[in-house]
Amino acid sequence: MVLPDYYEFCCRVKIVAGHNALEKIPELLAGKGAKKPLIITDKGVAGAGLIDIVSGILQDRLTETLITDNVPPDSDLRIVHQLAQLYRDNSCDAIIAVGGGSVMDTAKGVNIVVSENASDLMAFSGAGALKRPLKPLIAIPTTAGTGSEVTQVAVIKDHEKHLKMAFLSYFLLPDVSVLDARMTMTMPPFVTAMTGMDALSHAIEAYYCLQKNPLSDAHAISAVNMIYQYLPTVAQNPSDKIGRMAMSIGACLAGIAFSNSMTGMVHNLGHASGSVCGVPHGLAMAILLPYGLEYNMHKCEDIIARLLLPMAGEAVYLNTVKEQRAQKVVSLIRQLNEGLHKITDGRHARCFREVKDHESKPTVPREVLPQIAKAALLDGAYIYNPEETDYEDNLMVLEAAWEGRPLERSKLKKG
Ligand SMILES: NC(=O)c1ccc[n+]([C@@H]2O[C@H](COP(=O)([O-])OP(=O)(O)OC[C@H]3O[C@@H](n4cnc5c(N)ncnc54)[C@H](O)[C@@H]3O)[C@@H](O)[C@H]2O)c1
Ligand SMILES: [Fe+2]
Repeated sequence: MVLPDYYEFCCRVKIVAGHNALEKIPELLAGKGAKKPLIITDKGVAGAGLIDIVSGILQDRLTETLITDNVPPDSDLRIVHQLAQLYRDNSCDAIIAVGGGSVMDTAKGVNIVVSENASDLMAFSGAGALKRPLKPLIAIPTTAGTGSEVTQVAVIKDHEKHLKMAFLSYFLLPDVSVLDARMTMTMPPFVTAMTGMDALSHAIEAYYCLQKNPLSDAHAISAVNMIYQYLPTVAQNPSDKIGRMAMSIGACLAGIAFSNSMTGMVHNLGHASGSVCGVPHGLAMAILLPYGLEYNMHKCEDIIARLLLPMAGEAVYLNTVKEQRAQKVVSLIRQLNEGLHKITDGRHARCFREVKDHESKPTVPREVLPQIAKAALLDGAYIYNPEETDYEDNLMVLEAAWEGRPLERSKLKKG
């Protein structure tokens, strides 16, 4: 194993996890001196009854709680500014995000605007623009996916410009993250499947991308093990409490891993397909993950091969010849997607060609692939990919992922 000469690792989020973890929220808020939190959520999460659970717990101990549920998928620049105004108008003193990545990232955006007393969130985009701690933020993930509850990242979409902007700073790490199985048990199988594949893509990209280090590796390997084992179980049995808890921990571990080692081509092309066509993030990750592995295989085959152990266990690892282990990892991921496709009655698309919107119209017309390949060049996530990417290779990968066929290495410029 080659150790990096230098690396940094940081996760200063307090993680409160367990079947009654939510009951700790009043105490956690009191510890931050907060009395009037703004609860940010979306309509899907509120409609599933999850805000009732959280506000029920808060009711006895707090004088006031303000709730807003108008976060759209992928967050939104305009909504962030609106919610910041709501926070100011009501003199709130903390934020509680109850939702998936869209909600948690919105909350991070709102926290930037209110803490910096800013008028434009965009002034803080990119890396390192924040210089001081923000207001208290408690993250309660309701998907086991993005890991945003422990990442220094926020991804917010400008729906008007069809762009997804990234914000990176240690100050974006929430103060506390509360993991409780009651929050994820209501996720439908389709959302469970795609958000779980997002978590798996975090762990796997963290493990083979360039900024990997022994600390991120430890988190990534544990995450791969838990997610690979429990994702099909919870997609099949949504009320499996133990499985749900394991998935929440797995996604959290994966978030810690990638927040420190960063991601690569899978997220790069995934962000671009999300900003150009609105492909849900997790679904894009599920489709692209096998291609990210295939594209980078010649650069880090031995690293990819090691993933077979946490995925398939010792017997399979030892019974697979060394030269075939990395390829086996790719086929197991394709099989996992295939299984999720069946469990979700086809809603978990296996390739871009199969992705449909809520009116069953194709989300990714083939003609749009060049636009996605181009948009990916503007997204920083390619920087840590083991192999360099460019427009032609992006397009080649997207074509294969559209059709759902394995990547033909011989046609690529690289490797
Ligand atoms: N900040 C980060 O580190 C990071 C990492 C990866 C992705 N992201 C971003 O996160 C966003 C995606 O987040 P996501 O995948 O968690 O999905 P999401 O937050 O968009 O939620 C997807 C859907 O599931 C519903 N839902 C969520 N939890 C539910 C529950 N328990 N019961 C019923 N319905 C529920 C929501 O209402 C929504 O309709 C993307 O914008 C992506 O770019 C951020
Ligand atoms: Fe992701």
